Amino acid sequence: MRYLATFFLIAAFIFALPLAANAEFNTIDDLAKAYSDETCKGCHAKIYDEWKKSYHSQSTIHSLGGIRNFVAVGIQKEWDRPINKKDLMKCFHCHAPQLSQASDELAVKIGKLIVAAVDEKDEAKKAAAKKELEKLNVGCVICHNTIVNRPAIASLGVPEKDAMYGPAEVSAPHKTMKSNIIKESVFCGQCHGIYNPPDSDLIMCNTLYDSYLNTYTPYGGQQTCQDCHMKEKNRGHTFPGAYVADIVKEGIEVTADATGYKHLTGTKWVPRIIVTADIYNKSGHRTPDG
Ligand code: HEC
Ligand code: HEC
Ligand code: HEC
Ligand code: HEC
Ligand code: HEC
Repeated sequence: MRYLATFFLIAAFIFALPLAANAEFNTIDDLAKAYSDETCKGCHAKIYDEWKKSYHSQSTIHSLGGIRNFVAVGIQKEWDRPINKKDLMKCFHCHAPQLSQASDELAVKIGKLIVAAVDEKDEAKKAAAKKELEKLNVGCVICHNTIVNRPAIASLGVPEKDAMYGPAEVSAPHKTMKSNIIKESVFCGQCHGIYNPPDSDLIMCNTLYDSYLNTYTPYGGQQTCQDCHMKEKNRGHTFPGAYVADIVKEGIEVTADATGYKHLTGTKWVPRIIVTADIYNKSGHRTPDG
């Protein structure tokens, strides 16, 4: 009887997980619900709190100024095109990939909210627009399902609907799949590097993964993004970067060497010092990024 009860409990949880694949959404709330991080919070509370502190949880609103410029200046003025989903995806491919499941109408609405959240004169309306956009982020389901197989689409196939892909073989009250890619730098690199959208445009929001491949691994660097940004000091899902002093300090090593001597100026000996400072970059890539 107890087994039966457990079975029903498990079944309830399986159906409670987001059913995100293949659907098209007409409202931000429906889209956000399909990708709800709150669904995971109950059982993965610590990870949820860590993620909430990370910039992945704010990946639209933290880059709002730049995205607004792309919409208002790039799409509308320079290209002279109306706001449209295809152009928006040039940013949202990484900043909130779930936009690919918005209907065309919803995507246009989101584009308008982006402009309003920066340009709107009415403070209350501006704040309301920003609040809506907070719902678009790089959340649990994005990394553990939607984009997990992207780095090698041809061989890995479309992720199984409702399965949460993780680093290990575990049994959980929901469907899980072991993923090897999620433990590798290429998993992060798909968003932390140069991007070619389907129309062959070139989006160089950042080039960090490229510098990891070109300037770190060829010189013997062996750590992955996950090693330094997640496993080191149990950083977990907080993903510290340029805004967190602790990891920034770790990336820079300064060695200084001082030699004292006396210098003759006219008739006086003046004590002087020569300081030789070397600054080394110890992070796994160029710093700062940009
Ligand atoms: C290939 C993935 C990718 C694409 C495409 C992309 N971005 Fe980014 N963007 C990132 C990542 C990752 C960061 C964080 C990088 C860092 O801090 O090193 C970022 C950071 C930013 C920031 C800076 C946030 C800060 O630190 O202050 C802005 C602004 C921004 N992006 C705007 C855009 C716009 C506008 C577009 C579309 C034209 C775009 N991005 C397309 C991945 C991408
Ligand atoms: C930016 C991508 C990303 C996001 C967002 C993300 N994760 Fe992860 N998660 C990872 C990676 C990568 C690993 C594997 C790290 C390793 O072991 O190499 C991982 C590991 C895990 C694990 C197993 C190992 C552990 O740390 O206990 C669980 C469970 C997990 N994540 C749940 C979540 C939940 C819940 C959320 C949302 C609150 C979330 N993740 C958000 C990338 C992400
Ligand atoms: C009813 C509780 C429950 C809910 C709700 C839940 N999980 Fe889990 N999950 C677990 C348990 C228990 C495990 C196995 C032990 C562990 O890894 O924490 C697990 C395992 C995982 C793993 C595999 C970890 C690994 O080591 O490979 C991932 C990824 C994951 N969950 C992500 C999520 C995401 C994302 C959500 C929300 C969409 C979610 N879980 C919702 C309980 C839950
Ligand atoms: C779906 C795309 C995506 C994936 C996958 C992803 N990131 Fe990010 N990441 C972003 C975006 C977008 C931002 C910038 C958010 C902002 O500041 O607006 C970001 C921000 C960060 C930051 C903070 C940047 C800063 O300037 O301080 C770090 C660190 C980071 N990511 C590391 C990782 C690591 C490590 C992985 C792999 C385990 C990973 N990310 C996977 C999209 C992604
Ligand atoms: C050897 C350890 C190490 C490895 C490997 C590593 N990082 Fe970093 N990363 C750091 C340190 C230290 C910093 C802080 C100093 C700085 O800003 O560069 C940092 C900073 C960052 C930032 C913020 C950069 C900025 O200036 O905005 C992002 C984003 C990031 N790393 C992502 C990644 C990704 C993605 C990978 C894998 C392709 C990766 N890191 C590999 C150590 C590492």
